[in-house]
Amino acid sequence: MRLAEQLGILALVYPAAEFVNPVEVMGLRFPNRIGLAAGLDKEGNTIDALGRLGFGFIEIGTITPRPQAGNDKPRLFRLIDEKSIINRMGFNNPGITQGVANVKKSKTFQGVIGFNIGKNKDTPNENASADYLACLREAYSVADYIAVNLSSPNTPGLRDLQNADSTARLLDLLKKEQSQLAKEHGKYVPIAFKVAPDLAVDHIDALAEVFLKGGLDGLIATNTTLSRHGVEQNPLHTQAGGLSGPPVCQMSTAVIQQFSSHLAGRIPIIGVGGISSAEDAQEKIRAGASLLQIYTSFIYQGPQIVKDLLNKC
Ligand SMILES: Cc1cc2nc3c(=O)[nH]c(=O)nc-3n(C[C@H](O)[C@H](O)[C@H](O)COP(=O)(O)O)c2cc1C
Repeated sequence: MRLAEQLGILALVYPAAEFVNPVEVMGLRFPNRIGLAAGLDKEGNTIDALGRLGFGFIEIGTITPRPQAGNDKPRLFRLIDEKSIINRMGFNNPGITQGVANVKKSKTFQGVIGFNIGKNKDTPNENASADYLACLREAYSVADYIAVNLSSPNTPGLRDLQNADSTARLLDLLKKEQSQLAKEHGKYVPIAFKVAPDLAVDHIDALAEVFLKGGLDGLIATNTTLSRHGVEQNPLHTQAGGLSGPPVCQMSTAVIQQFSSHLAGRIPIIGVGGISSAEDAQEKIRAGASLLQIYTSFIYQGPQIVKDLLNKC
């Protein structure tokens, strides 16, 4: 049975999306603070079912300009004892045109829809901005916000775009295009950048400056980690890919904290990485996050984790 069908059946036993402590962030109204992180609904075809499970926002993708198959299987490994995952999916996705068409078919979801965009694997880094711009243009009319993924470890060279100069250039191009598109469409779609947890403090400081100068609308921290700290005992720890779940929690919170000390509320932060309890969620909020996303705890705990977080955040 396909994921969309499975979630559709599950959604039948859950009430509709909940308006619990609605918040306004990036100029958008979120029915609640708990979102689904990118990578689960890569095609944007499961939004209504996921919305029924209580998520206030859903980030679809990562989607690239052209469809691509992703890496060979196996490419996803559950490290059961540590309740974590190593994945090297490699942006398997139907391409931006199909993604937009899929999202247009969603009918009942009342929350916020983010489009997480990336570059195709065979696009060299010097042309990466063209891929991001193409996705921005196509998604603009249907997206509530755009998440620019600079931090997947599974597309060779992608994280090099987090180098402060490259990030500044890309941000500048995207902001120019955004103001053009805002005029054409009569609506402003905020742009967030998604960063890795494997950033040194001085790198974070440099990026924070770039983001402030360039007028970034939001920051998503963080993606999966290349570290294997906390899973060294698991035979699967040698698998290549990004690690998610509890082992990334503290790293991600530290990155949020460091960014937050620079951004001082001027750019809102979406906190993601290893949230598997209300305590984890509250720590991220204390570190400076305005919104939260989960992925791995949803895989291990199912929809109950969404309810738990909604009740306590
Ligand atoms: C199987 C899998 C696929 C993912 N795919 C993407 C992706 O396509 N784009 C992206 O920005 N993040 C992707 N992520 C990262 C998550 O969005 C999230 O940032 C990360 O897993 C940390 O959160 P978590 O510990 O709650 O899972 C993926 C994560 C997993 C486990």
